[in-house]
Amino acid sequence: MQAILIINGPNLNMLGQREPEIYGHKTLADIKAMCEQKASALGYEIEFRQSNHEGEIVDWIQGVAMNPESYAGLIINPAAYTHTSIAIHDALKLVELPIIEVHLTDPFAREDFRHYSYVTPLARAAIKGQGADGYTQAIETLCNLVTV
Ligand code: DQA
Repeated sequence: MQAILIINGPNLNMLGQREPEIYGHKTLADIKAMCEQKASALGYEIEFRQSNHEGEIVDWIQGVAMNPESYAGLIINPAAYTHTSIAIHDALKLVELPIIEVHLTDPFAREDFRHYSYVTPLARAAIKGQGADGYTQAIETLCNLVTV
Protein backbone atom coordinates (compact mmCIF):
# COMPACT_ATOMS: atom_id res chain seq x y z
CA MET A 1 0.00 0.00 0.00
CA GLN A 2 1.37 3.43 -0.93
CA ALA A 3 1.58 6.14 1.68
CA ILE A 4 0.68 9.79 1.67
CA LEU A 5 3.16 11.89 3.62
CA ILE A 6 1.52 14.79 5.44
CA ILE A 7 4.00 17.35 6.73
CA ASN A 8 3.07 20.04 9.24
CA GLY A 9 5.32 22.99 9.96
CA PRO A 10 6.10 25.05 13.04
CA ASN A 11 3.60 25.74 15.81
CA LEU A 12 1.01 23.37 14.39
CA ASN A 13 1.81 21.03 17.32
CA MET A 14 0.09 23.69 19.46
CA LEU A 15 -3.26 23.51 17.67
CA GLY A 16 -6.15 23.48 20.10
CA GLN A 17 -4.27 25.87 22.34
CA ARG A 18 -2.88 28.19 19.65
CA GLU A 19 -5.17 31.15 18.83
CA PRO A 20 -8.30 28.92 18.73
CA GLU A 21 -10.37 31.86 17.46
CA ILE A 22 -8.21 31.70 14.31
CA TYR A 23 -7.17 28.06 14.04
CA GLY A 24 -10.09 26.31 15.74
CA HIS A 25 -10.27 23.91 18.66
CA LYS A 26 -9.11 20.70 17.02
CA THR A 27 -5.67 19.44 18.01
CA LEU A 28 -3.13 18.08 15.54
CA ALA A 29 -3.91 14.60 16.94
CA ASP A 30 -7.58 15.17 16.00
CA ILE A 31 -6.54 16.15 12.47
CA LYS A 32 -4.25 13.13 12.22
CA ALA A 33 -7.18 10.84 13.17
CA MET A 34 -9.39 12.50 10.52
CA CYS A 35 -6.65 11.99 7.92
CA GLU A 36 -6.13 8.34 8.84
CA GLN A 37 -9.84 7.64 8.50
CA LYS A 38 -10.13 9.39 5.12
CA ALA A 39 -6.97 7.83 3.72
CA SER A 40 -7.83 4.30 4.78
CA ALA A 41 -11.28 4.65 3.16
CA LEU A 42 -9.45 5.55 -0.05
CA GLY A 43 -6.88 2.74 0.25
CA TYR A 44 -3.84 4.69 1.40
CA GLU A 45 -1.66 4.78 4.48
CA ILE A 46 -0.75 8.04 6.15
CA GLU A 47 2.59 9.20 7.48
CA PHE A 48 1.67 12.24 9.54
CA ARG A 49 4.54 14.40 10.79
CA GLN A 50 5.14 17.77 12.41
CA SER A 51 8.33 19.72 12.94
CA ASN A 52 9.31 23.13 14.20
CA HIS A 53 12.60 22.85 12.29
CA GLU A 54 13.06 23.89 8.68
CA GLY A 55 15.96 21.49 8.01
CA GLU A 56 14.02 18.50 9.34
CA ILE A 57 11.17 19.33 6.96
CA VAL A 58 13.69 19.57 4.09
CA ASP A 59 15.03 16.11 5.07
CA TRP A 60 11.52 14.62 4.99
CA ILE A 61 10.78 16.14 1.58
CA GLN A 62 14.06 14.75 0.24
CA GLY A 63 13.02 11.35 1.63
CA VAL A 64 9.93 11.42 -0.60
CA ALA A 65 11.99 12.54 -3.60
CA MET A 66 14.38 9.61 -3.07
CA ASN A 67 11.62 7.00 -2.56
CA PRO A 68 8.87 7.94 -5.01
CA GLU A 69 7.71 4.32 -5.33
CA SER A 70 6.66 4.30 -1.65
CA TYR A 71 4.46 7.38 -1.87
CA ALA A 72 1.33 8.52 -3.69
CA GLY A 73 2.21 12.13 -2.99
CA LEU A 74 2.89 14.79 -0.44
CA ILE A 75 0.53 17.07 1.47
CA ILE A 76 2.17 19.97 3.24
CA ASN A 77 1.11 22.73 5.58
CA PRO A 78 4.44 24.49 5.98
CA ALA A 79 2.85 27.02 8.41
CA ALA A 80 5.01 30.16 8.68
CA TYR A 81 7.69 28.61 6.45
CA THR A 82 5.16 28.93 3.61
CA HIS A 83 6.01 32.59 3.45
CA THR A 84 9.76 32.45 4.10
CA SER A 85 11.41 29.19 3.11
CA ILE A 86 13.36 29.01 -0.12
CA ALA A 87 14.94 25.83 1.31
CA ILE A 88 11.54 24.10 1.42
CA HIS A 89 10.71 25.48 -2.05
CA ASP A 90 13.97 24.04 -3.43
CA ALA A 91 13.37 20.66 -1.75
CA LEU A 92 9.84 20.47 -3.16
CA LYS A 93 11.31 20.98 -6.63
CA LEU A 94 12.97 17.56 -6.24
CA VAL A 95 9.61 15.84 -5.78
CA GLU A 96 8.02 14.54 -8.97
CA LEU A 97 4.91 13.24 -7.20
CA PRO A 98 1.87 15.50 -6.73
CA ILE A 99 2.14 18.06 -3.95
CA ILE A 100 -0.95 19.52 -2.29
CA GLU A 101 -0.61 22.64 -0.13
CA VAL A 102 -3.03 23.01 2.77
CA HIS A 103 -3.71 25.80 5.26
CA LEU A 104 -6.31 25.90 8.02
CA THR A 105 -6.88 29.61 7.42
CA ASP A 106 -6.77 31.59 4.20
CA PRO A 107 -3.42 33.37 4.49
CA PHE A 108 -4.40 35.77 1.68
CA ALA A 109 -7.21 37.12 3.86
CA ARG A 110 -4.76 37.85 6.69
CA GLU A 111 -1.69 40.05 7.22
CA ASP A 112 0.32 41.16 4.16
CA PHE A 113 3.32 39.07 5.22
CA ARG A 114 1.22 35.93 4.69
CA HIS A 115 0.23 36.80 1.13
CA TYR A 116 3.11 35.13 -0.69
CA SER A 117 3.57 31.35 -0.66
CA TYR A 118 6.82 29.77 -1.83
CA VAL A 119 4.92 26.47 -2.09
CA THR A 120 1.98 27.41 -4.32
CA PRO A 121 4.06 27.52 -7.55
CA LEU A 122 5.02 23.87 -6.97
CA ALA A 123 1.66 22.55 -5.73
CA ARG A 124 -1.01 20.91 -7.87
CA ALA A 125 -3.65 22.43 -5.57
CA ALA A 126 -3.79 24.76 -2.58
CA ILE A 127 -6.64 24.27 -0.08
CA LYS A 128 -7.08 27.24 2.24
CA GLY A 129 -9.55 28.48 4.82
CA GLN A 130 -11.40 25.17 5.34
CA GLY A 131 -10.04 24.49 8.83
CA ALA A 132 -9.27 20.87 9.68
CA ASP A 133 -11.54 19.68 6.85
CA GLY A 134 -8.96 21.11 4.43
CA TYR A 135 -6.70 18.18 5.28
CA THR A 136 -9.27 15.57 4.27
CA GLN A 137 -10.06 17.61 1.16
CA ALA A 138 -6.34 17.57 0.36
CA ILE A 139 -6.31 13.76 0.64
CA GLU A 140 -9.32 13.51 -1.71
CA THR A 141 -7.70 15.92 -4.17
CA LEU A 142 -4.46 13.96 -4.14
CA CYS A 143 -6.25 10.63 -4.61
CA ASN A 144 -8.23 12.01 -7.53
CA LEU A 145 -5.00 13.17 -9.16
CA VAL A 146 -3.23 9.84 -8.78
CA THR A 147 -6.14 7.65 -9.84
CA VAL A 148 -7.00 9.58 -13.02
C1 DQA B 1 -1.10 28.44 8.39
C2 DQA B 1 -1.07 29.89 7.90
C3 DQA B 1 0.31 30.48 8.11
O1 DQA B 1 0.32 31.84 7.66
C4 DQA B 1 0.67 30.46 9.58
O2 DQA B 1 1.99 30.94 9.77
C5 DQA B 1 0.50 29.13 10.21
C6 DQA B 1 -0.65 28.31 9.82
C7 DQA B 1 -2.53 27.83 8.32
O3 DQA B 1 -2.64 26.62 8.37
O4 DQA B 1 -3.50 28.58 8.25
O5 DQA B 1 1.23 28.75 11.11
O6 DQA B 1 -0.28 27.66 7.54
